[in-house]
Amino acid sequence: MSILNILNFPDPRLRIKAKPVEIFGDALRSLIDDMFETMYAAPGVGLAATQVDIHKRLLVADVSEDQDAPHAFVNPRIVARDGVSVHDEGCLSFPGIYEQVERAGQVTIEAQDRNGNSFTLEAEGLMAVCVQHEIDHLNGKLFVDYISELKRGRIRKKMLKLQRQAS
Ligand code: NI
Repeated sequence: MSILNILNFPDPRLRIKAKPVEIFGDALRSLIDDMFETMYAAPGVGLAATQVDIHKRLLVADVSEDQDAPHAFVNPRIVARDGVSVHDEGCLSFPGIYEQVERAGQVTIEAQDRNGNSFTLEAEGLMAVCVQHEIDHLNGKLFVDYISELKRGRIRKKMLKLQRQAS
């Protein structure tokens, strides 16, 4: 397994819309393993393929306290949503940035697992937030798109400054 490089905002590749996964096989399973390793190492609770510059509809998540409940979602779709919840969200592509985002409180997700088998999951709480946030990534949408342009501009400046300091 290997740790993949995570793109940081405002990298334009974070805006690419991902394409459906059509081939299930060893390459996909190995990518999923690498994405879990990358997410756990960060550490984070969710990671979309877009964030590691792979533009396929695939995400991994684990919102458990002990990081022992890995979920991989291939070609995920939200088929029902209910309620409203507001969470302080962070993102591995925005180190150190947290913003309140309003999303559905409960969602029903249809997806395929690492072997191509279809499943349905009803999620609430942090899992619901996480899956909505990660599916947004697959559509080139970021959590800062939910806040004001002024605040987003400040975050962009801060991130560019951090990247200059790190290089
Ligand atoms: Ni994110």
